[in-house]
Amino acid sequence: MRERVYIFDTTLRDGEQAPGFSMTTEEKVQMATQLAKLGVDVIEAGFAAASQGDFEAVSRIASEVRGPTICSLARALEKDIEIAGKALNGAERKRIHTFIATSDIHMEYKLRMTPEQVLERTREAVSFARNFTDDIEFSCEDATRSRKEFLYRVIEEAIKAGATVINIPDTVGYAIPEEFGDLIDAIFNNVPNIDKVILSVHCHDDLGLAVANSLTAVKHGVRQVECTINGIGERAGNAALEEVVMALKVRKDHFGGLTTGIKTQEIYKTSRLLCRITGSFVQPNKAIVGDNAFAHEAGIHQHGVLSHRMTYEIMNPEDVGFPMSRIVLGKHSGRHALKKRLEELGFQFNEEIIERIFERFKDLADKKKEVYDEDIEALIYQEFMKIEDHEPLKVIHFQVQSGDNLMPTATVKVSFNGEEKTATATGNGPVDATVKAIQKALGIEPALQDYSIKALTPNTDAQAEARVVLEYEGVRASGRGVDTDIIKASVNAFVDAINRAIVRKKYILQRREVREEGTV
Ligand code: KIV
Ligand code: ZN
Repeated sequence: MRERVYIFDTTLRDGEQAPGFSMTTEEKVQMATQLAKLGVDVIEAGFAAASQGDFEAVSRIASEVRGPTICSLARALEKDIEIAGKALNGAERKRIHTFIATSDIHMEYKLRMTPEQVLERTREAVSFARNFTDDIEFSCEDATRSRKEFLYRVIEEAIKAGATVINIPDTVGYAIPEEFGDLIDAIFNNVPNIDKVILSVHCHDDLGLAVANSLTAVKHGVRQVECTINGIGERAGNAALEEVVMALKVRKDHFGGLTTGIKTQEIYKTSRLLCRITGSFVQPNKAIVGDNAFAHEAGIHQHGVLSHRMTYEIMNPEDVGFPMSRIVLGKHSGRHALKKRLEELGFQFNEEIIERIFERFKDLADKKKEVYDEDIEALIYQEFMKIEDHEPLKVIHFQVQSGDNLMPTATVKVSFNGEEKTATATGNGPVDATVKAIQKALGIEPALQDYSIKALTPNTDAQAEARVVLEYEGVRASGRGVDTDIIKASVNAFVDAINRAIVRKKYILQRREVREEGTV
């Protein structure tokens, strides 16, 4: 039995497929660089054949990120596998992950293929993929709803054709831990040569059991777990990497001392980076990385923790890099201090970009006495992680009048796909008036689903962070804006959300073409 559990991170593929989590290529490279620092064994960088954007992201990560194996997903089709192989060209170590559905319902209604055809396709896809690399992962999509005897046959054929990792996805999050453990035992007992490959699982969280199922599988001999940061992923998400890894570490007594290569002190930083990039934050009570994960409010708990930490804490916050004090920079802090802090926060930039960030930082430090981590993260997000070089919508200028005896009125000048437009509107408050003026100028009315604003740090000179969730042309997107002026922060968040919806729609349309041709 291997002593190591391999961590296969699919944040950039399955995670990114979820509504509201799409990332630009630049953002994916940042995330992949941090995942490498975190120590994941495999980064599934995308599904190269899905769109030009996916192809670019996989190729850039393959050529720029060192350490983990870089992987691309591919349907069991020669053209997908060929594109995946090309995208992975620059990788130090590469893996092609090919898959096909094996459940009756998927084969009949989605693939419209007979079981024999699926077997044939499995053989062809795996052996074709061997032309590009020796590291081939094969997944039986919807494995947990597949007939067991058929599942064994497909796995056996994939191994014969040269697969080195066999993945058992619980695609629709249907499995119950005990039953999933029995399935893993059955695969070990019935598939010839299963000991020659690494058995892997990929669990979805539709019943809130993704982590429990993954850990049960490990207990039954599985040695690769597929997971995502913060548990993001299709529908209810995937197994959360941080929960799987910390459960194995904290309960190593239960798991027979199995280890992972994860540097757990990097967990919090990685989780925050993903939140910043996607604009989607975890709930405060989220295990391991939520704001309250190590907070003790009740007096009895506080007393216990102060006398002996382990009375109410089963792990140390430092073990996951949870910040216990907030480091503050100010206008006298130099480049070196800023650079060090950026690295500690998980950002990797070249000298030229650091210089630009430093200039922005100085401007902000002039406005604010103390610059907190939240300010630095917000500044980077605002300035350097724009969703595209050419954002479709930009606010050129806005002006608002508001007071206790005035009807709030805003005038805006925007540019939309290069065309300038101006409009004036009144509203129920200055933010409402400005948003209405933008909508009037564009002639659109996205459905606003959520809007919130909060001060990032203490004091009245704080930067305000606004968040907006809206639906535009059938696409849900979230946006964030940060500024010391709350109206500007709100407008920026609104504009960011519209731009993300437009970019996301473009990706979805490209991906839909791929889906219509086959599976996924
Ligand atoms: O959930 C799933 O089945 C997948 C496969 C492509 C591994 O994401
Ligand atoms: Zn999945």
